[in-house]
Amino acid sequence: MEDTELLQMAIEAKKNAYAPYSHYQVGAAVLTGGKHVYTGVNVENVSFGATNCAERTAVFKAVSEGEKKIIAVAVAGSGDTIPYPCGICRQVLAEFGDQGTRVICSNSNGSYEVHTLGELLPHAFKLR
Ligand code: THU
Repeated sequence: MEDTELLQMAIEAKKNAYAPYSHYQVGAAVLTGGKHVYTGVNVENVSFGATNCAERTAVFKAVSEGEKKIIAVAVAGSGDTIPYPCGICRQVLAEFGDQGTRVICSNSNGSYEVHTLGELLPHAFKLR
């Protein structure tokens, strides 16, 4: 699947973001080893720490459907800046991706960057 196609799915998903506190909507789409796409959005909570990022929502949907390998993830943000995944999301992506997993990040103007997970999270924590 083309990066732009995955990105389009993240942009579409962003419409369902629940962000009444930050007003910053995020959509994500993960492409799995089984060649399926799972989308996710940020889901905020009045107790702010209970908020879940779009990337983790998408990854958790994939894993709960039995898909444990992530090939690529697209992230679409609602602002001018490029929405790089936060630190916790990078660690979660590292659990199911690898150094070569593509991370496609797009702002709301259509500008996007493609990085690898290895670039965004070198030396990820591993137990052994
Ligand atoms: N957010 C994401 O969905 N993904 C990230 O990688 C960083 C931040 C969300 C969380 C919160 O709902 C909003 O963006 C502002 O932080």
